Amino acid sequence: MKIKDKHYQTIWYEKNSSIVKIIDQTKLPHQFIIKDLKTVKDAINDIKIMEVRGAPLIGATAAYGLVLAIIENNDQTFLKKSAENLINSRPTAINLKWAVDRMMNKISGVNSDEILEIALNEAKEICEEDIGFCKIIGMHGFKIIEDIYKTKKDTVNILTHCNAGWLATIDWGTATSPIYHAHQAGIPLHVWVDETRPRNQGANLTSFELNNENIPNTIITDNTGGILMQKGFVDMCLVGSDRTLYTGDVCNKIGTYLKALAAYDNSIPFYVALPSSTIDWEIDNYKDIPIEERNNNELSHINGLDEAGDLINVLIYPKESKSLNLAFDVTPSKYISGLITEKGICKADKIEIISLLKN
Ligand code: MRU
Repeated sequence: MKIKDKHYQTIWYEKNSSIVKIIDQTKLPHQFIIKDLKTVKDAINDIKIMEVRGAPLIGATAAYGLVLAIIENNDQTFLKKSAENLINSRPTAINLKWAVDRMMNKISGVNSDEILEIALNEAKEICEEDIGFCKIIGMHGFKIIEDIYKTKKDTVNILTHCNAGWLATIDWGTATSPIYHAHQAGIPLHVWVDETRPRNQGANLTSFELNNENIPNTIITDNTGGILMQKGFVDMCLVGSDRTLYTGDVCNKIGTYLKALAAYDNSIPFYVALPSSTIDWEIDNYKDIPIEERNNNELSHINGLDEAGDLINVLIYPKESKSLNLAFDVTPSKYISGLITEKGICKADKIEIISLLKN
């Protein structure tokens, strides 16, 4: 999608220099910085500090991380250790493990003359596939928005949480793809953007994305969605996912669950958009999902521009207070109206998920 009318993807590889390029998402929306990843360590660190984030994008970054590992030291022990470190760089989004496993399977047993090219092609393929899947997710999700518009005959108000936009994927996004398709088809839309504390991915990234595509949007605090739903100002909720169990429970950015509860209480459709790489086919009890706990500094400090226009980070909590920073929560399947995937829309239900998405 576009930044200031120029088309970008979130990650790309420069063959001449053997460098992976990413957009540093910790600086958006105030600064637009393209960063170089030269080693697998760079890729691991970048995922950890969330210069790249969002389930599909961290998967793609890990795939390119393995390409960088091969360039550095094409030795099986080093590659296995790199794969392990990449998987452990963030624990919740399953796309990370999915992408690393896919890369390792592809290069296993390949001779050293061919390994780099095969790995590079696979990393590119993961990215191309994700772009295609996100585009199709948008086409399926478009129909839901179109149906609401046909009944309402007025602006469709969509509430979204965190950033499941193109910045979280390679292009298009998951939850935003239906929004972009509906906007392109001329359906009048307005998006309520949950700020998404503590890192403000909604305010900093989703609103920024939507502004760049000229889609009307309003940032709200994470606690505002409930009253908007009660007042009839929300027609549907549309969010992404970091890990969806094959039983239909959805793990996504902290606060998603509370939005789903409010939507359920107000009979507002609550949809989750995800590529099949986000499905966890192993865990069946959501309590077993590893929930990332991040540094408390993300709560107690906040980034912003000072009066001189410089990006600064300031303390906002009492110095002596304790805080707890859980990054994800789980929305049980009963609160979800449907899953929008590249293969179509299904109920958040084990039988439907297996029949639509398994193989
Ligand atoms: O901690 P983040 O910013 O990586 O979390 C991202 C989310 O929770 C997104 O909603 C999710 O990854 C879906 S991305 C298409």
